[in-house]
Amino acid sequence: MGGGHPGRALLVPGARPGLRCRRRTRDPAALSDDDGGAEPRRPDCAALRGPLPPDRGRRRGRAARVAGSRRRRALLPRRRTGAGHPGDGADPRSRPGCGRVRPARAAARAPRQRGQGRGGRALNVPVRLPLVQPDQPAFDTVAVRWVHHWNSHLFSLAVERPRSFRFRSGEFVLLGLHDGSRPLMRAYSIASAAYAEELEFLSIKVEHGPLTSRLQRIEPGDLLYLGRKPTGTLVADALTPGSRLFLFATGTGLAPFLSLLRDPDTYDRFAQIILVHSVRRVSDLAWRDQLTGQLADDPLVRDQALLQLLYVPTVTREPFHTSGRIQALIDDGRLFGPPLHGPARLDPAIDRIMLCGSSAMIADLSERLATLGFEEGSNARPAHFAVERAFVG
Ligand SMILES: Cc1cc2nc3c(=O)[nH]c(=O)nc-3n(C[C@H](O)[C@H](O)[C@H](O)COP(=O)(O)OP(=O)(O)OC[C@H]3O[C@@H](n4cnc5c(N)ncnc54)[C@H](O)[C@@H]3O)c2cc1C
Ligand SMILES: NC(=O)c1ccc[n+]([C@@H]2O[C@H](COP(=O)([O-])OP(=O)(O)OC[C@H]3O[C@@H](n4cnc5c(N)ncnc54)[C@H](OP(=O)(O)O)[C@@H]3O)[C@@H](O)[C@H]2O)c1
Repeated sequence: MGGGHPGRALLVPGARPGLRCRRRTRDPAALSDDDGGAEPRRPDCAALRGPLPPDRGRRRGRAARVAGSRRRRALLPRRRTGAGHPGDGADPRSRPGCGRVRPARAAARAPRQRGQGRGGRALNVPVRLPLVQPDQPAFDTVAVRWVHHWNSHLFSLAVERPRSFRFRSGEFVLLGLHDGSRPLMRAYSIASAAYAEELEFLSIKVEHGPLTSRLQRIEPGDLLYLGRKPTGTLVADALTPGSRLFLFATGTGLAPFLSLLRDPDTYDRFAQIILVHSVRRVSDLAWRDQLTGQLADDPLVRDQALLQLLYVPTVTREPFHTSGRIQALIDDGRLFGPPLHGPARLDPAIDRIMLCGSSAMIADLSERLATLGFEEGSNARPAHFAVERAFVG
């Protein structure tokens, strides 16, 4: 998926033919929590180009024009180069700044500091050099393809997929960057399906978080480290066959379920798939539009998703048509009934369940499932439900 794949490209948040300069913000912090919907504000093209030199309009003559143009070029991200590059041609993500920074060129640039010209002259402009990484034998170095900020504490990003990188839908992998002395890596669920050409992630922005306080500032073309050994329990292999698959997610726990929902194999295994995404605020409902539309833009799964996917977003700290924690939806029966087929309760005879998100939610629901007769499964021993604790809290 990704470059050149027509359907997958349409799934990029906010992607609309003819619109330029989307999906990137120079200042993630400028995004508000109060957007009230899943469609974040987008800066206009002028804002993306960044501020013009302060003396623009005062200087005259050819020398001034050349200097001005050099400064503006310095503010703009570099263009991709090379024939056949994924950024060329019809890829809607193709735009200046989406290109890979080749490690050799990047290394040559690295010693130059932000705001410095050649020879160390201060340019006095806010030049943002792309994030570069020294090679690490344990990790692949991958270029960021796109970044999308949902709000001030949540964003999505995609990186190129190394040719040798294999994973099963629902797995997680280490992702990170160099902190100046060593690689700083964290576990991240892959939100793309196993056949995808790029690897997408959904990330929290933890204030003062060692990784995410930096990761949230990445831009297309920056380089990240990617682990080589994806693993995880939220995979089809951890479950025995059933007819209804319930995917219960809080916050960024949505990520592995996006992967499963984008994989046709999931629809082949289960008659109905019910995704419940519980978040505090409406703007936390990442991918809400696409999920509400039952992945209609994804040609690989749209026919199956239309008939088999049921999306239940619930918001706990703002008004919304569905509110309350996952347990509340189960307890008061709102989760069941048409268009869902089958009994108005969770039943180990037909239901399979996956849990991802807060540890407290997982502990509570796991206990409840055990009392209902559900057994926890694993890769080695598939059973009725599978869990992944994404974070402590
Ligand atoms: C198997 C696994 C899969 C994971 N998948 C994802 C993922 O897809 N997306 C993602 O954003 N994170 C995911 N995480 C968490 C991730 O590894 C990091 O903790 C997160 O990126 C924050 O890193 P940090 O260094 O900034 O802060 P850390 O020092 O790692 O975390 C600081 C604190 O922030 C809180 N926190 C951390 N991550 C989250 C989160 N995702 N949601 C809410 N609160 C959190 C916790 O209270 C934690 O103690 C996963 C963790 C595990 C173990
Ligand atoms: N989301 C935000 O608006 C926001 C803003 C600033 C900072 N943060 C910080 O970001 C971090 C993660 O926040 P987050 O909103 O992604 O994750 P979160 O706090 O885990 O909340 C996500 C969803 O999980 C629900 N939940 C929490 N505990 C549960 C449990 N035991 N059982 C069932 N459901 C449960 C929450 O409901 P409840 O609302 O009922 O708890 C909410 O709907 C937190 O440290 C938070 O302080 C979040």
